Amino acid sequence: MSAKKYTGLEAELYDLFRGSDDFDEIGYYVDLALNAGGNCLDVGCGTGRVLIPIAQQGIKITGLDNSNVMIEECRKRLSSEGISASLIEEDMTNFNCENNFDLIIVPGGSFQLLDDRNDALAALKNFQKHLQPEGLFVMSLFTPFYEISHEFLDGVWRLEKDEKIEGSENRALCHSCVDLDRCENLMEVRHRFELINNNGITESSEIKFSRLRWYGKYEIKLLLERAGFQQVRISGDFENDDMRDGHAVMSVSAVPVSL
Ligand SMILES: C[S@@+](CC[C@H](N)C(=O)[O-])C[C@H]1O[C@@H](n2cnc3c(N)ncnc32)[C@H](O)[C@@H]1O
Repeated sequence: MSAKKYTGLEAELYDLFRGSDDFDEIGYYVDLALNAGGNCLDVGCGTGRVLIPIAQQGIKITGLDNSNVMIEECRKRLSSEGISASLIEEDMTNFNCENNFDLIIVPGGSFQLLDDRNDALAALKNFQKHLQPEGLFVMSLFTPFYEISHEFLDGVWRLEKDEKIEGSENRALCHSCVDLDRCENLMEVRHRFELINNNGITESSEIKFSRLRWYGKYEIKLLLERAGFQQVRISGDFENDDMRDGHAVMSVSAVPVSL
C-alpha cells in the first residue's frame, strides 16, 4: 500500500496553491455531472475544488478522500456555502459503499498518487464495482512534460509558489524539488511549505513527499480494460478532442463491461 496523506501545511495551503482551474477542469466535470443526472462520487475530493461546484448545481454527490484534514476543510466550505454533500474518509483502493453511482470522477490527478501498480489496479476495480451498469467513470491524468524535457531540473530546488495570505501580512511559499524515473514513469516530488511573517522570518516550515505515476494513453486503456471497463475514450485538455501531441492533460472515460 502506497497511500499518500495530505496533512499540515500541505493541506492548509492546498486551496491557495492548487485551487486554480487553468484548464477549465471544473466546468468539464460539472457538465459531466449534469449530463449523468444522478448519484455522483468524487474520489480524492480534497477540499471540494470540483465537488462544491457540482453540489451547487443541486446534484447529489459524495466526496471520498483518505485525508481527514482535507475532508474537514471540504466540510467547512460546504457549510459556509449552505450546501450539503456526504463526505467519507476512505482509501480509494479499498472503500466499500452500499450505493452504486451513476458517475465516478477522479479529478486533479489524484489517481496518480497511487504509485504502486497493484494499488492502481485495485482502485480501478473498486471504481468498476461501485458503478451502476449504465454508469460512467472519468478521471484526469497529467503528464509532467516540463519535468521530463528539462533534465537539468532533476534534484534542483526551485520556488514554485509565493502567495500573500489574505487578511494578513504573511506570505506562503512552496519550493519544490523533483526527481524523475523516466523508465518507471515515476515522479518523486519534495515540497517545502513555509509561512513567512512580515519581518521575513519563517514561522513554520514542513517538507512533504509525493510520488506520482504518469501514464501513456495505451497503458491506461489496457489497465482499465483489465479492471473490467470498456469503451475507453481519451480526450485532451478537457476539450472533446481525442488526446494528441501538445495536450498536457488526459481526461479518460470508460464504462463498466456489461455482465
Ligand atoms: C491533488 S489532490 C486533488 C484534490 C481535488 N480532487 C482537486 O482536484 O482539487 C489529491 C487528493 O487525493 C487524496 N488522496 C490521495 N491518495 C488517496 C487515496 N489513496 N484514497 C483517497 N484519497 C486519496 C488526497 O488526500 C488529496 O485530497
